Amino acid sequence: MKEAARQATLKRSVSLFRSFRLEQTKPEVFYRDLADDAVAQVLSYTPLDGMTMLDIGGGPGYFADAFEKAGAWYTPLDADAGEFRLHGRSPAPGSVLGDGTSLPFRTGSVDVAYSSNVAEHVREPWKLADEMVRVTRPGGFVFLSYTLWFGPWGGHETAPWHYLGGERAAARYERTNGHPPKNKFGESLFPISAHDGLRWAQQCPDAQLVHAVPRYLPSWSWFVLSVPGLREVLTWNLLLVLMKT
Ligand SMILES: C[S@@+](CC[C@H](N)C(=O)[O-])C[C@H]1O[C@@H](n2cnc3c(N)ncnc32)[C@H](O)[C@@H]1O
Repeated sequence: MKEAARQATLKRSVSLFRSFRLEQTKPEVFYRDLADDAVAQVLSYTPLDGMTMLDIGGGPGYFADAFEKAGAWYTPLDADAGEFRLHGRSPAPGSVLGDGTSLPFRTGSVDVAYSSNVAEHVREPWKLADEMVRVTRPGGFVFLSYTLWFGPWGGHETAPWHYLGGERAAARYERTNGHPPKNKFGESLFPISAHDGLRWAQQCPDAQLVHAVPRYLPSWSWFVLSVPGLREVLTWNLLLVLMKT
């Protein structure tokens, strides 16, 4: 936890937000930077060398490159085969096509279950979270992070109009761009809160909450997560770290 806080500097947040602006124009830069940052964040809680790791909603293999470089035996799982090939990439070896809410893995079979920016795309996010805990071995770690609906990027490409409602934001996007957004409200984008994530983590019968942090923010601002209401807007992206008991 101390190491995670030490790493979460303002400089790192600024650099992440700079990369974030390149998501549409230079996705390879954005996703590589995000993946490298994700590895550093995970390493601040657990070693990865020689660990088996399941990445739910892994998407194109940028995270595969980064986690394998850190020594993990990395397996990406995604519900959409097309996502493995995004940006002209090839599926990482061992990629699994499957649903995060019903993982085709044995109970207690991985050292680390990881999922980044996926839960907001899932109709039943806490089922996905439960599945992550199930497949993790006792003493192993679960890292679940997702974009909060009431955060500035909650509506994804329809932001900030999602503050007026998801359907209205999607309709506005279509009018402006001539095509519907990739992330369709109510189909592949759902409102998800910090409140529900924290409640799920605190009540999880088979895992202990190790840390809950605003994933991209500097550590001096982490207190926002303790302020109900405000946290839904300012946290941006919530990272829940749990240890399987
Ligand atoms: C925004 S991308 C996140 C990619 C990567 N994890 C990251 O952080 O950049 C969301 C991914 O979740 C996948 N996904 C959505 N619903 C899923 C489900 N039920 N099970 C597994 N993957 C799912 C999508 O296909 C997509 O690849």
